[in-house]
Amino acid sequence: MCGIIGCITSDDCAAKSVYEGLLRLEYRGYDSVGISALGGGKIVTVKKSGRVSGLAEYVGGLKGNVAAGHTRWATHGAPSGVNAHPHCEGRFSVVHNGIIENYAELRDELISRGYEFRSETDSEVAVKLIADNFRGDVLAAVAAAAVRLRGSFALVVLCEGFEGFVAVRNRSSLVVGVCEEGIFAASDVPALPESADEITVMEDGDIAVITRSGAQYFDFCLNTVTRRARRVERDGFTADKGGYPHFMLKELNQSARAVEDTVEGFFRSVDLGRLRSLVSGADEIILTGCGTAYNSGLIAARFFGESSARVRVEIASELRYYPPKMSKNTLVIAISQSGETADTVGAVSLFRQTGAQVIAVTNCGYSAITRLANIVVPVCAGAEICVAATKSYFGQLAALYLTANVCADVAFAKSQLRSVALQFSSVLSQTAECECFAGMCAASRAVFFMGRGADYDVAVEASLKLKEVSYIFSDAYPAGELKHGTLALIDGDTLGIFVICQERTAEKCISAVHEVLCRGGKAAIITDMEAEDDSLDGVPVWRIPRVGKMSVFLSAFALQLVAYRTAVKIGRDPDKPRNLAKSVTVE
Ligand code: M6R
Repeated sequence: MCGIIGCITSDDCAAKSVYEGLLRLEYRGYDSVGISALGGGKIVTVKKSGRVSGLAEYVGGLKGNVAAGHTRWATHGAPSGVNAHPHCEGRFSVVHNGIIENYAELRDELISRGYEFRSETDSEVAVKLIADNFRGDVLAAVAAAAVRLRGSFALVVLCEGFEGFVAVRNRSSLVVGVCEEGIFAASDVPALPESADEITVMEDGDIAVITRSGAQYFDFCLNTVTRRARRVERDGFTADKGGYPHFMLKELNQSARAVEDTVEGFFRSVDLGRLRSLVSGADEIILTGCGTAYNSGLIAARFFGESSARVRVEIASELRYYPPKMSKNTLVIAISQSGETADTVGAVSLFRQTGAQVIAVTNCGYSAITRLANIVVPVCAGAEICVAATKSYFGQLAALYLTANVCADVAFAKSQLRSVALQFSSVLSQTAECECFAGMCAASRAVFFMGRGADYDVAVEASLKLKEVSYIFSDAYPAGELKHGTLALIDGDTLGIFVICQERTAEKCISAVHEVLCRGGKAAIITDMEAEDDSLDGVPVWRIPRVGKMSVFLSAFALQLVAYRTAVKIGRDPDKPRNLAKSVTVE
């Protein structure tokens, strides 16, 4: 979370390049923003509460060929101008992404040595520690401070008198890109100018010293380290809505393509023999991830139904601290759009240390989990800018479906995915149903999504999406659980949305619909079944195309569309929900 960027340019408009980069990094946090520019030997800083665009009017006045910027997702200290980065001390200005866990103890130590703290952030200790260690050599000061910091940090450090900047990485992503505009270091590739088609991914424990003549890499003990640049696919990184009113809608419209491209990417780039041996050699498979990635794991566990291995799904933030007893051949399948989610990376690191095999299912080929995994199964959804995960979820489902079938008839699995991808457009065209469901959600105090079997897994994702973008209270339950407690919440202001695509339990679900209706609650049904039920007169029914066990793709897609439309109806910004950020790189 938080996006940081630093650059050295050939003109004196580095601040403009930083500003443009911050606009493209805003998905990582958007509660406050700041830029420092270094020109004529002096650092000038502007920072404010609010979104990046709030700095537009100041950028032209920030002259210098070196600059650093930050867009914040608050962890320590409320969103405010004072807590916004950069933080400055003496000749230094620093932007930070991550959490410095030992900040309280460092703060006390620095206060006892006469430093005065202005903000409530953990980050301010970093700049003061660097200033405190400065004896004329910037690199040495940064290294001396870095070894004292515990936690996750990516830093960009500017220093008056040094024509360049220093970047540091420890458990928070940082990439370096060289291009015609200059040399950049940033939290993520989209922040780099379009012409940066080669990047160097910094490793944990790296310090990069970046001057006009290039980047040099060191470890925290100041030994030189070699880092190689790699080509990066920039396709789809455009931070442009392509004519849609929101990124969320644009990305929902790219969901079918995410499935198709993921299928294509799987057969193009995965070593199928290696994947087969990992899957068939496992006696236990643990699927893990957070948020929507975890939700795709719930469905994927059912894809592995034929496997002889024990299959479980674990939330990564729990798994890393409460790991189950491992069997001899544990296979971890880590799912993450960004590949940088701290909890997922933490869980994967733990399992790697204990000898488990790891498959990374990710939309980001240069991310932290790819470096920890034995094999990567790519999700080819293209850049996802909206904070809510949409198309990446469908890409994940496709990648996981192929992985689950890699030891069976994988060619058939491919054809099933291609067929379901063709049906997304039918769901998109059912606008009347979508508007009706969204209208009902918008008029409700709480929305409960219910289903059984895989329909329940879809309900979990639908509920997350609705609450995330609309702020309407929502939860998901297996429909059979309703009578064990949730029914107490049902009244005229609550809505139950039932996903009914599993024939085996369809009738049971219909009974649950009645249980809601007869207590004065509202209900709506999404189903792929044709049969009409007269007893449900007046209950809106959305009939999605019938695609057998692939129904999870279409029901989840329909309900993500409902979440989007609900948010828009009640005036929320679906792309940037309050309090959230896209890449959750802190615990
Ligand atoms: O990048 P990841 O897939 O690891 O992110 C995991 C979650 O933070 C993410 O899915 C989050 O729940 C989304 N905002 C949901 O829409």
